[in-house]
Amino acid sequence: MSVLIKNGRIVTASDDYFADIYIEDEAVSLIGKQLDVHADTVIDATGKLVLPGGIDPHTHFDMPFGGTVSADDFESGTKAAAHGGTTTIIDFAIQTKGESTIKGLDTWHAKAEGKATIDYGFHMIVTDMPHERLGEMERLAGEGVTSYKLFMAYPGVLYVDDGVLYRAFRQAGENGTRICMHAENGIVIDEIVRAAVADGKIAPRWHAHTRPTRMEAEGVHRSIAIAEVAQVPLYIVHLSCADALEEVKRARMRGVDVMAETCPQYLFLDIDTYDKEGFEGAKWVMTPALREKWNQDVLWAGLSNHHLATVATDHCPFCMKGQKDLGHDSFTKIPNGAPGVENRMSLIYHGAVVEKRMSLNRFVEITSTAAAKTFGLFPRKGTIAVGSDADIVVFDPERKETISVDNHFTHHMRVDYSAYEGFKVQGWSETVLSRGRLIIDKGRLVTEGGGRFIKRARVADLLR
Ligand code: URP
Ligand code: ZN
Ligand code: ZN
Repeated sequence: MSVLIKNGRIVTASDDYFADIYIEDEAVSLIGKQLDVHADTVIDATGKLVLPGGIDPHTHFDMPFGGTVSADDFESGTKAAAHGGTTTIIDFAIQTKGESTIKGLDTWHAKAEGKATIDYGFHMIVTDMPHERLGEMERLAGEGVTSYKLFMAYPGVLYVDDGVLYRAFRQAGENGTRICMHAENGIVIDEIVRAAVADGKIAPRWHAHTRPTRMEAEGVHRSIAIAEVAQVPLYIVHLSCADALEEVKRARMRGVDVMAETCPQYLFLDIDTYDKEGFEGAKWVMTPALREKWNQDVLWAGLSNHHLATVATDHCPFCMKGQKDLGHDSFTKIPNGAPGVENRMSLIYHGAVVEKRMSLNRFVEITSTAAAKTFGLFPRKGTIAVGSDADIVVFDPERKETISVDNHFTHHMRVDYSAYEGFKVQGWSETVLSRGRLIIDKGRLVTEGGGRFIKRARVADLLR
């Protein structure tokens, strides 16, 4: 199989030029001006941007959580991601407390295998780590699972104490791998929640008003301190506010190896959203919660000046009917999470490039290249270069869409609402290739399945 993409403007994190791309089998084999080659498929990209496929390093497909299971599985979730110009996701396998992490990985392989349309990797969520299990972390790394997420939030569910954090951090550091941190003081937050519920504050809005930004900042500060002592590279997931970013900046100034991701919901939505009529605020019950609007400018600036490294979605969808409504009588029972995997590239292109906050190169970096480099996928993924996987998006920079659950150009996620309903965006992923396979052709899904598990390199290998 060969593909020729003609006349496009190729934009990577570092380059911007007009050329043709010739793809043989799964990889880019030739880039040049007016290539005179025969191809089985020819795509005319005149007037379009030709971008490395998006990489979303934070999704939760088929995840048991909050008494239910996230609404997208690996089949529907990866198709929706593909529609939105994302060609690789990194999802989270979960260790059942007291059981082997290897067993958790097997469970997630079974969930994804044969179902995914785009390529995928796994982080491992560690829920306990006694000394006897530490060896499993090296085995996971050997299997290409080279990053681990631990939680300071959700006491009694995914929470681990500082001792477990330190033990896992140290082992991950020794193995040359990376720690991902859900940084929020869940113990204090639970106390605030208990008091609120006792006062009869049970509507969705109280989810946000019981989770102060200081408790996220404290978690960021503490996890950075533990990571420094344990000597492990740290990646703060879903950073939501200026308070928390300040801790990252301070540590980076000291030379600490800490990076952070934010998400479209913290860049585009704010705490007032919870004040919508009735139970509607449940749509945005996620953790961390949406913050006061002024934080958005600080996060955009953080992305522009490299204090923030990536934009992931934390896609964790639950339908309003039958899932979110589990919490009708108390916000504490609303499953935490919101959809977004399909909308990330358009939203960020709009906010970053159309609204002139940063360059096209930086847009590519925060939506693809930085995640590839951080999580051991580069240069196979995250760029367009000879030898790289032909994960490519032909992106229409002019096309305008209104994001809506009813718009079949913006919503293929298996969830009964859009977190960005009514948002007008400019920039749309028109045609998408995954390892040279045409999967989205002018907005239509033309290939299903074929996504593969990708073994990722260790962060230490990237430094050699
Ligand atoms: O509300 C969220 N974020 N749900 C998914 C789990 C997590 O904490 O990432
Ligand atoms: Zn989290
Ligand atoms: Zn998450």
